[in-house]
Amino acid sequence: MLYNDSSFRDEAVCDPQSNVVAAPSSLPATAGSHPSPLPPLQDQFGRTFDYVRIAVTEKCNLRCTYCMPEEGVDFKKGEQILQADEIVRVIGSLARMGIKKVRFTGGEPLVRKDIVKLVEGAASTPGIKSVHLTTNGILFSRYAKDLLSAGLTGVNISLDSLDADKFQRITRRTGVEKVLDSIRLALDLGFPRVKVNIVLMRGFNEDEFPAFCELTKDMGVTVRFIEFMPFDAHQIWESGEHFASAENMVQQLHTMYPGIGETSGTRTEHHIFQVPGYKGKIAIIPAFTRSLCGNCSRIRLTADGKIRNCLYSDDEYDLRPVVRANGSDDEVASVFRKAFHEKAKDGFESKKRSSVKRVNISDVGRVSMTQIGG
Ligand code: GTP
Ligand code: 5AD
Ligand code: SF4
Repeated sequence: MLYNDSSFRDEAVCDPQSNVVAAPSSLPATAGSHPSPLPPLQDQFGRTFDYVRIAVTEKCNLRCTYCMPEEGVDFKKGEQILQADEIVRVIGSLARMGIKKVRFTGGEPLVRKDIVKLVEGAASTPGIKSVHLTTNGILFSRYAKDLLSAGLTGVNISLDSLDADKFQRITRRTGVEKVLDSIRLALDLGFPRVKVNIVLMRGFNEDEFPAFCELTKDMGVTVRFIEFMPFDAHQIWESGEHFASAENMVQQLHTMYPGIGETSGTRTEHHIFQVPGYKGKIAIIPAFTRSLCGNCSRIRLTADGKIRNCLYSDDEYDLRPVVRANGSDDEVASVFRKAFHEKAKDGFESKKRSSVKRVNISDVGRVSMTQIGG
């Protein structure tokens, strides 16, 4: 089966709207195709990959219960983690294959001291049109201005509850006010894209759905509700009792706002709406039901330099030895090509293949979302 790519929509490329006008939504200095392109990165189903998610650390300053146990996980040692110049070098090779969008994730990317240097390196790479960060917002105010000057075009801030007590229960730390301040600061500074990520869980924060939606009335943010995925080490969330489906969320939106209109967003934002007269947008991300797979454009690189071709696949392709041996762009590209040639048609197939290979849960090298990069 070949996926039809005519529905391509990525804000960095196709959606000219931005939250504010103070800063451009992409990087004019380096925009345009790479001057010496390599063939694009494609899979057997006709999908083209142009968005790389790079985890820059496994460490995090929060301990969200659905992600990590209180004591953390077995974080990789310093020398196993790719250095900033190695990461920027990989971005350079990817840009030659037509990759236009870079997102730094983690763990928490802002616990990495050289994050500004990383953003600067990505933003100044010819061919890269936008550079984004997914953060929990705790340390954001410390770096915000420097990140903007370095060329960061978007920031996605995770916030699962507006209530201090619930925030502490889910993250095992305090900080809801800090995160809210970070969202306001990102808007005040004029970051082109500011988004709030909420993992919506039945019986926990589902009752806050309306309050989160109402944030879009006066704030130029995209509020995004994400289906919960059971990817935590101890599988404490496996039961499904907390699962809230994208379909139900969409229904609830139509009930709350009968005239709500659809609008444009990124490929992850499979359902995207704007309430008439509201400044922001509301998106629903079917991360678990996976109806977004036909439009998949994502490449994942873990902090220790492994390529993953799907969020739901355990297969890894080791890029670190190639990078450390000073491999050419063609050599770097060929590891990505192998990984994406072997990509399954969707996340269900990826998971099925991985479960067949896996004898028990301890066979999985990575036990937490923090080691995959979301
Ligand atoms: P935008 O570029 O702003 O759309 O961000 P993003 O959604 O790509 O990145 P973000 O780091 O904010 O991820 C939000 C949620 O979407 C996380 O829970 C991710 O795990 C989930 N997500 C991102 N990419 C995929 C994917 O390829 N498949 C699935 N199933 N979920 C994904
Ligand atoms: N299910 C859904 N989303 C998750 N995230 C982390 N773990 C999960 C999970 N198990 C989200 C974070 C962050 C984004 C990168 O991924 O809340 O917003
Ligand atoms: Fe792509 Fe896999 Fe995510 Fe589907 S589940 S959108 S195939 S990464």
